[in-house]
Amino acid sequence: RYYLKTKTLGKNLIVLDSVGSTNDYLKHLGSEGCENGTVVVTHEQTKGKGRLGRSWTSERDDNLTFSILLRPRMAPKDMVDITPLTGLAICQALRDYTGLDLKIKWPNDIILGKKKLVGILTEMSAEFDAVEYIVTGIGINVDQTTFPDEISHKATSLLIATGRHYDKNRLLAGLLGRIEEAFVRSNLALSAETISEYKKLCASIGKSVTFKSGTRSISGVAVDIDEDGALKVMLSDGSLRTVNAGEVTVQGI
Ligand code: BTN
Repeated sequence: RYYLKTKTLGKNLIVLDSVGSTNDYLKHLGSEGCENGTVVVTHEQTKGKGRLGRSWTSERDDNLTFSILLRPRMAPKDMVDITPLTGLAICQALRDYTGLDLKIKWPNDIILGKKKLVGILTEMSAEFDAVEYIVTGIGINVDQTTFPDEISHKATSLLIATGRHYDKNRLLAGLLGRIEEAFVRSNLALSAETISEYKKLCASIGKSVTFKSGTRSISGVAVDIDEDGALKVMLSDGSLRTVNAGEVTVQGI
């Protein structure tokens, strides 16, 4: 709190010792009317959630684990812009703080080489045609020295990558500042400018990707990000497919 220089994000800051999931906790507060910009951060998550029903696990204090609640006036369909905007802001900020060549794996993992450093999960509550609130949850691997066998080939931490311990309070304050700046500047909508910044840092473009469509696995080459933040993939027959986040898992960078 001492370092926090934001106007909105984290003004209401809730620090927990241990919780199932900061996203679930904040969704509960959201349904009870907590204010725009409320942030929940925890030392430990016992039921952390990843995208597409996966789990997000880490040992106590190894991960910077927090969620942000927003109450934007927007249509539910426009919430897809929040995750790429958040991912871009975090990627740019962490590049500045660490000097690491961090990239974005579409749609919103932040990676170093082929290894994941940050995951983002955005959830929404909407009523009729209006967003009631949005919760964006962020998990950053900070102090891990090792990972469980299943993920050790595809995960890294700031400690592993830089040999340094980053102060999690300062990191959180700095990131909330950068995220708020990005939200204010963009008015929470992707613009041509933010898409072009995103593309510069997106490791997926030009790479082979495989995505699932229903039960089928489809392979192609990622060629572009469109104005909605969707991935354009060229298939082997030369046709283009638009892949939306949320529907698919993408293999390969
Ligand atoms: C992913 O990469 O699949 C998304 C991971 C998101 C993890 C964060 S940690 C804080 C917040 N609370 C959760 O339960 N999940 C998100």
